[in-house]
Amino acid sequence: MCGIVGYIGHRKAYPIIIKGLTRLEYRGYDSAGLALYDNHQIEISKTKGKVSDLEAKAAHLATSTSHLGMGHTRWATHGVPNDLNSHPHVSNSGNLVLIHNGIIENYDAIKTELVKRGYTFQSDTDTEVLVNLIEEVKKKENVKLGKAVQLALNEVVGAYAIVVFDLQKPDEVVVAKLGSPLAIGIGDQEFFIASDASPFIEYTTDALYLEDHEMAILKLGRPVKLRKIKDDAPATPNILELQLSLDQIEKGGYDHFMLKEIYEQPKAIQDTYRGRLRPEEGLVKMAGIDAHLERFLKAKRIVIVACGTSWHAGLVAEYIFEDLARIPVEVEYASEFRYRNPIIGPEDIVIAISQSGETADTLAAIKLAKEKGAFVFGVCNVAGSSIARATDAGAYTHAGPEIGVASTKAFTTQITVLSLMALKLAKEKGVLSTIDFHTYLNALAQIPAQVALALQADASIKEIAQVYKDAPNCLYLGRGFNFPVALEGALKLKEISYIHAEGYPAAEMKHGPIALIDDQMPVVVIATKRGHYEKVVSNIQEIKSRSGKIIAIVSKGDVTVRDLADHVIEVPETLDWLSPLVTTLPLQLLSYHMAVLRNCNVDQPRNLAKSVTVE
Ligand code: F6R
Repeated sequence: MCGIVGYIGHRKAYPIIIKGLTRLEYRGYDSAGLALYDNHQIEISKTKGKVSDLEAKAAHLATSTSHLGMGHTRWATHGVPNDLNSHPHVSNSGNLVLIHNGIIENYDAIKTELVKRGYTFQSDTDTEVLVNLIEEVKKKENVKLGKAVQLALNEVVGAYAIVVFDLQKPDEVVVAKLGSPLAIGIGDQEFFIASDASPFIEYTTDALYLEDHEMAILKLGRPVKLRKIKDDAPATPNILELQLSLDQIEKGGYDHFMLKEIYEQPKAIQDTYRGRLRPEEGLVKMAGIDAHLERFLKAKRIVIVACGTSWHAGLVAEYIFEDLARIPVEVEYASEFRYRNPIIGPEDIVIAISQSGETADTLAAIKLAKEKGAFVFGVCNVAGSSIARATDAGAYTHAGPEIGVASTKAFTTQITVLSLMALKLAKEKGVLSTIDFHTYLNALAQIPAQVALALQADASIKEIAQVYKDAPNCLYLGRGFNFPVALEGALKLKEISYIHAEGYPAAEMKHGPIALIDDQMPVVVIATKRGHYEKVVSNIQEIKSRSGKIIAIVSKGDVTVRDLADHVIEVPETLDWLSPLVTTLPLQLLSYHMAVLRNCNVDQPRNLAKSVTVE
């Protein structure tokens, strides 16, 4: 994971780096560091902890007039988070400075060789090995930095986005990418480098996203020189105009990004509908499906691959696709799928779901599915991301940037896209009556307003959170379309509040988890009308008989569950298959308030990072 920022140009580098690192902190936050070229010297400051700790430690550099620098916020892979293991790393000669996002898998073998040649190492990182390998190649082959980087990277196995400069050539920065993202912002006589475009959005909207196996030499006064790492062949830069705006990446008055993103859901879903959901015309338009309709209609099976919250959205989609479009669906953890020799072929469609579009396991699963001849469709939030580019076709969730580490609006917009897809395919396959199709279109159209109504329970959810904030455990139960929502609710709680939580299909409780229930155990039950309401009410009775504390998510106006539960949270009533889009909201808010009341860092939970670019 990790976030990287670099700058070369006419502005002062320090504020660009610090601000950029703060924006990229969602990618990793266990240590941070920066390097500035100043007056023929390199100033380095590194520390365990967050970017704010770095800012305090590097305060003496704040006035630096340096116009060349780089910074890094780390999510540790090799070596514990401490000052020494933090990036940037410097080569033995003191000339080369490098930051790295990714993993060099064969670093141990390279290190052994370098040690034999007299190199010494201060840290336990693979990155320090890489910077010294580049130095060794540069010396041995007597080549310039760009060529040395290219040759060295051909010896490396693993993933990387790197930024490197040479103290002896301070008008040039070399960057390269394989597997980890790297964007270059192109200004007037200046270049910005970052893991995503957020660090430079206020300076330029011209950006270039490096492809895998590409490197670039950024020299002041020259256009970007793009090369293929394998054979050093020139490549043509594809410079895009960014659509990102500054307010999308700021908190906008909310205490946390997570809360802002929870509240953005009505708009995010509406944005995801835009141009696609057309109830007045009686159609769902999705270019990515229209272009490959035959394939979708002939598909024997859909296999969904994803991780974490995106996997939960995939599970919701399994229920929806099978119910509406009558296409068999399997949902796989990408990390399992990629290593288990799955039976998959040209008659299958693989749907890869990913907010970031950079998740390493999901990318590897896509690669495997393609090798086996499957058609791969991506559902991503980040335009131009690696997964968006690796898939054969796709549909974006237009949720806008999601910065809080706990995924919220990405989940509901993923379900939105997948619902539109299922509905469209059901119609095209002729397995849905016209009347049902129109009813469903209209129900979808109401969802943004219903999500906004669901948010009105926020204050009462906060009161419930106050009651249970010290609970050591929590159970989440749901059935049918809401079983994956129970899993998602439990994941949200554990990742940001560190309370142990489990999600189960409500009926499975009798097969084990019911043993956990006593008067100390809060049980969140999704018990909305329609679907399996009566069955869930029976499950609630079973919990109540064992003195469990029941927090029930119910449809507006419900009276039956109100009499049984300790707390009820009302959500507007919608169709059963669309209910995850409203039942998810109270669970997000509950976990948010529990975490805040427990003084947890909601936007940067411990040990986590927003995009998991290592396997
Ligand atoms: C949980 C969460 C993670 C991600 C997972 C996949 O709140 O954010 O579980 O869902 O790491 O990430 P993407 O969707 O970017 O592939």
